[in-house]
Amino acid sequence: MEKHYSSERRSVAASKLLSFLGRESLEGMDFLDIGSGSGLHSLAAFDAKAERVHSFDFDPLSVKTTGKLRQLAGAPLNWTVERGDVLDFDYLEKLGTWSLVYSWGVLHHTGAMWQAIENAAGRVAPGGLLFIALYSSNVVKPSAQFWLDVKRRYNAADARHRRLMECWYIWRFGLGRNPLRWPLLLKQIYDKKKGRGMSYMTDVRDWLGGWPMEFADDQAVVSYLKDRFELVRMSTGEACTEFLFRERGSPPAARN
Ligand SMILES: C[S@@+](CC[C@H](N)C(=O)[O-])C[C@H]1O[C@@H](n2cnc3c(N)ncnc32)[C@H](O)[C@@H]1O
Repeated sequence: MEKHYSSERRSVAASKLLSFLGRESLEGMDFLDIGSGSGLHSLAAFDAKAERVHSFDFDPLSVKTTGKLRQLAGAPLNWTVERGDVLDFDYLEKLGTWSLVYSWGVLHHTGAMWQAIENAAGRVAPGGLLFIALYSSNVVKPSAQFWLDVKRRYNAADARHRRLMECWYIWRFGLGRNPLRWPLLLKQIYDKKKGRGMSYMTDVRDWLGGWPMEFADDQAVVSYLKDRFELVRMSTGEACTEFLFRERGSPPAARN
C-alpha cells in the first residue's frame, strides 16, 4: 500500500479532483468510483466530504487496496468497497444513481469501451456529474496502432522481457534516446507524483500492461453523450483526456 499512499499523495489527489470539478468540497454529493484501482481517488472524495462513497473494481487486488485505504480513513460507514464490473448491468442497476460518477482511466480497459461509457453514464442522477478520463486517439504519439502492438507484446512477454520493455520505454520516451536528458526524466517523475499523486514506474507498468485497451476520439465521446449530457469541461493534451459532463435532467440540490 505504501506504493500508492502517502499523506502528500492523499492531499494532492483531493485538490486535483476538486479543482477539475471547480468546487471547494463534495458536500451534498455522493461519489461512485468505477474502477477504483488503488482507491486514492475514493479517499480523495471522502476527504472532500462526499456524503457517501462507493468504490468498485473488477480486480480483487484493487478492491483489497481500496479497502485498506478505507481502513486508513477509519472504516467510515458512508464508504463502501466491493468487487464489481462496469459491464455487469444487473450489478450496476442495484447501485442506483449518483450525483457524481467518477471513472478515471478505466472504461477504455474493459474490452467494450462504448458499452462501459454507456453504463457509467446510466448511473448519473438527473442533473448530476460524470467525470471520466479516456485514452485519447487525438494526442497519442506514435500512433494508436503502434501502442496497441507494443501492449500486445508486453502482455505476451515473460517477466524478464517485460523488464526489458520497461527499460526500452524509459530510454525511448522518458529520455527521448538521449542520456543527457536525465534531468528531464527526473522532472517527469516528480511531476507525476505532484500531478495525480501516482508513481512514475506504476504509471509505466500500467501503460504498457493495461490490456484490453482502446483509444477514444475526444469529439466522438462528446457527440456520443450530447443528447443526455452537456460538456462542462474537458482537459486534453495528456495521454488521457478528462471530461466533465452534466446530465441534462432537473438539477439536484447541490449544484455548483
Ligand atoms: C489504470 S487503472 C485506474 C485506476 C484508478 N481509477 C485511478 O485513476 O488510479 C484501471 C482500473 O480499471 C479496473 N477495471 C478494468 N476493467 C474493469 C471493469 N470491467 N469493471 C470495473 N473495473 C475495471 C482495473 O482493475 C484497474 O483497477
